[in-house]
Amino acid sequence: MMNLKECIITRRSIRKYKKDDISDELIHDLLDCARFAPSPCNAQPWRFKIIKDCETKQLLSQASFNQKHIAEAPVVIVCCGNINDYIIGSLSGNEELYNLDMIDNNFYKMLKYRTDGLKNVQVEKLVSEVSFNVAIAVEHIVLRAVELSLGSCWVKAVDERKIREIFNWNDNIKFVNLLTLGYPDEEPKSIKKLSIQDIIL
Ligand SMILES: Cc1cc2nc3c(=O)[nH]c(=O)nc-3n(C[C@H](O)[C@H](O)[C@H](O)COP(=O)(O)O)c2cc1C
Repeated sequence: MMNLKECIITRRSIRKYKKDDISDELIHDLLDCARFAPSPCNAQPWRFKIIKDCETKQLLSQASFNQKHIAEAPVVIVCCGNINDYIIGSLSGNEELYNLDMIDNNFYKMLKYRTDGLKNVQVEKLVSEVSFNVAIAVEHIVLRAVELSLGSCWVKAVDERKIREIFNWNDNIKFVNLLTLGYPDEEPKSIKKLSIQDIIL
């Protein structure tokens, strides 16, 4: 089995999959990795919908400018954030951090002031905050998938309104991305990655 660094280095976006199904046990394992992601005040706003049926995958593909791999992947995970749960989770989470003696009184007061303020913030203002929380959990899934010999591809080029229509969501659910998933049936050509020097400011 690959170690974490090997998973990170060998991971590629996979857009061609074998037809083999992914067992519920493996999907359970991936979600188990998602739930351990870090989040501010341990708010844990990520929510996932697992799509295996062809009809919904077809609709998701159409909502994503007909990207073929979405219809063809054995599984598509619809990755979302729950805005209300983010607020509630932030409030209870900072209490927990304080009660566990993990933060001091002054820092707790600042966090409490901020999280109390979340209740009055407009939903749109929380969208980017919630989205990057969800993204961390999604990348846990992506890397664990590599370790389990699965391939995946982030998909963000979508018409979000169409996705919302498919699932009939209200504004409380923030769509973040689709993640296609399956056993790889391609070896992508190597791609240029920036060097360490390139990424140091
Ligand atoms: C936020 C995000 C959005 C992406 N959206 C798409 C997408 O809509 N369709 C697609 O085929 N690939 C998408 N990708 C995959 C990128 O094209 C890919 O990560 C990039 O080309 C680097 O290749 P690699 O993942 O193989 O290293 C997305 C990746 C990220 C992180």
